[in-house]
Amino acid sequence: MRVAIASDHAGFEQKQVLVDFLVGEPEVEVMDMGPDSDDRVDYPDYAVKVAEAVASGTADRGILVCGTGIGMALAADKVAGIRASSITTPEFADLFRRHNDGNVLCLSGRFVEPAVNEEIIRVFLTAPFEGGRHADRVAKVMALD
Ligand code: RB5
Repeated sequence: MRVAIASDHAGFEQKQVLVDFLVGEPEVEVMDMGPDSDDRVDYPDYAVKVAEAVASGTADRGILVCGTGIGMALAADKVAGIRASSITTPEFADLFRRHNDGNVLCLSGRFVEPAVNEEIIRVFLTAPFEGGRHADRVAKVMALD
């Protein structure tokens, strides 16, 4: 699975930790889309890089890290084909996949510990979309693009 990841300055430190974590995960190809330092940047610039990679099929899933995860989710979700959300627990990551077919995971680098974000990522990359009644609802959401 090709996983695109990026952050802003507030998420940079955790992004580096999470890239190392992803490199060790089985069958994951990591696409680090920056930044390369913790210099101040604007989160929409990095959200769109990952969102467009997922929307175009260059990546299978996306992960974005900012201070809260909220700004990244707002920006990524503007790109057609993207279902992005700020996720702070493994339980919500599971439902984000099973019910919403989420394809871009947005994480908090300031309020959630790296070990928790690693577990969130593990769930995000493995939990299946359940389809069925959820497929009709997701289709209605995507018709809003
Ligand atoms: C940057 O200070 C911060 O606003 C950003 O990382 C993010 O939390 C926005 O939602």
